[in-house]
Amino acid sequence: MITIFPTNLSDLQKVREIALKTWPQTFANILTPGQIDYMLNWMYQIKALEEQVLEKGHVFLIANEGEKSLGFCAYELHAKSLYKTKIHKIYILPEAQGKGIGKKLIQEVVKIAKRNGDTHLFLNVNKYNRAAIDFYLRLGFYEDFHEVIDIGNGFVMDDVVMELKIA
Ligand SMILES: CC(C)(COP(=O)(O)OP(=O)(O)OC[C@H]1O[C@@H](n2cnc3c(N)ncnc32)[C@H](O)[C@@H]1OP(=O)(O)O)[C@@H](O)C(=O)NCCC(=O)NCCS
Repeated sequence: MITIFPTNLSDLQKVREIALKTWPQTFANILTPGQIDYMLNWMYQIKALEEQVLEKGHVFLIANEGEKSLGFCAYELHAKSLYKTKIHKIYILPEAQGKGIGKKLIQEVVKIAKRNGDTHLFLNVNKYNRAAIDFYLRLGFYEDFHEVIDIGNGFVMDDVVMELKIA
């Protein structure tokens, strides 16, 4: 059985471990190894994760099977506009993908977002990450617009912004 719970700061090490195990496979054919290292370093150092929680209002949910953590997602209520919740991250360990855990995490965020009065979820996904885009489409998200974001060191994020109406 999969259980989902909000993390406290001491769980961020689990988030980091799942990301380190999932990113290389997810982005092997999409980003250079240099960019994968750069982005993991930038977003998944424990200090960076703590800053996301304490200063930026990101909330991490972890999905567990028994004692084992299999995936996480991070969301921010009322991001950008007052009525939209942003999904900042969602990663499921490679061996646990395709078993409904991603859907469960998104459904949990939908519940929380609605409870807090938001009308939409939105997120950025790399435009070449076909599997993730198809997953979001399956859950009812639509493509809103494309954006290229300069993240320094000569790297960009070449993204699609996708949105889901929840109210
Ligand atoms: C993308 C990801 C979060 C999806 O989570 P998941 O647990 O593997 O997906 P689920 O098993 O919950 O799938 C939910 C539904 O989407 C469908 N789906 C999942 N992946 C799909 C794909 N590649 N193509 C088409 N449909 C897909 C499933 O069939 C399922 O449909 P159903 O509800 O009708 O049964 C997960 O696979 C993952 O972590 N991938 C690597 C990291 C990544 O790309 N993260 C997103 C970064 S923006």
